[in-house]
Amino acid sequence: MSAIDGGTVVVTGASSGIGREIARQLAPRAGKLVLVARRVERLEALSTELRAMRDGLEVVLLPCDLGDRAATLALVETLRAREIEVDVLINNAGVGDMGVFDRASLDKTLAMIELNVVSLTILTHAVLPGMVARGKGGVLNVSSGFGMSIMPGFAAYIATKHYVSGLSEALVADLAGTGVTMTQVCPGPVATEFEENLGNFTGQKAPGLVEITAERCARSAIRGFDRGRALVVPGIIMSLVLWINHWSPRFSRRLFSRLLGRVLRKKQLAVGA
Ligand SMILES: NC(=O)c1ccc[n+]([C@@H]2O[C@H](COP(=O)([O-])OP(=O)(O)OC[C@H]3O[C@@H](n4cnc5c(N)ncnc54)[C@H](OP(=O)(O)O)[C@@H]3O)[C@@H](O)[C@H]2O)c1
Repeated sequence: MSAIDGGTVVVTGASSGIGREIARQLAPRAGKLVLVARRVERLEALSTELRAMRDGLEVVLLPCDLGDRAATLALVETLRAREIEVDVLINNAGVGDMGVFDRASLDKTLAMIELNVVSLTILTHAVLPGMVARGKGGVLNVSSGFGMSIMPGFAAYIATKHYVSGLSEALVADLAGTGVTMTQVCPGPVATEFEENLGNFTGQKAPGLVEITAERCARSAIRGFDRGRALVVPGIIMSLVLWINHWSPRFSRRLFSRLLGRVLRKKQLAVGA
């Protein structure tokens, strides 16, 4: 049986997109859902919706700015103080930033690292000892196709997702034999609010062929977690893209991304972003 069934599941970034869909799909199965994000009214609306889906489902809202280290540490304390024993942690909250690194806002970059990297590390570090002691449970990290590839215009975001992917893969090894699972999901473009917050100045959207819905992404991620998979890439096209990327020589990948980088910089300078 999956640790989700009847278990206590923490979902970060539950107020929108992939996280909200994961919460919806887990409502019929989890015993208790702990929802984390900043927008309280969104969490409250979701809580009402989830409770209506199943009698007896316990929903706990822990609003938190995971970009604020003190707030993340306080969240860990709240989980301890309320004796919330976490069976499954879903590290989903994350933001992106687009543009060449030398023109990026340092504040925005550091805030992204705090959210995508530091808070994920703090939460994972907080829940794993209990899971290992109980010999069950699991962590589902929402990384990105960018966790396994390079593209110009996303340097710091890519670096944060390489951290998430590297940590996740290494934890698969660390946790071997403990009964605790570690799954990372690496989606390509997903239709959520992520794109709006990205600062996309190119005027170009992700090709419809590769973009998937949050509902589909959540379904693949949960299925992969249930099966104890180390890596989940939702969507056939994205799987193919990452497969080609993985097997193509480094020099050709570098050549391609340098060409794209020149085009992107020109575009960014032209629009003054
Ligand atoms: N959409 C894509 O194309 C795509 C592709 C690959 C990977 N991903 C990854 O998927 C994950 C979810 O993104 P999404 O696409 O679902 O985007 P989204 O719709 O923008 O959702 C992001 C979630 O993160 C939460 N969040 C943002 N800043 C936060 C903060 N400081 N503290 C706490 N929560 C915060 C947001 O809640 P509040 O604003 O209410 O705090 C929201 O619930 C991210 O890790 C992203 O990197 C997305």
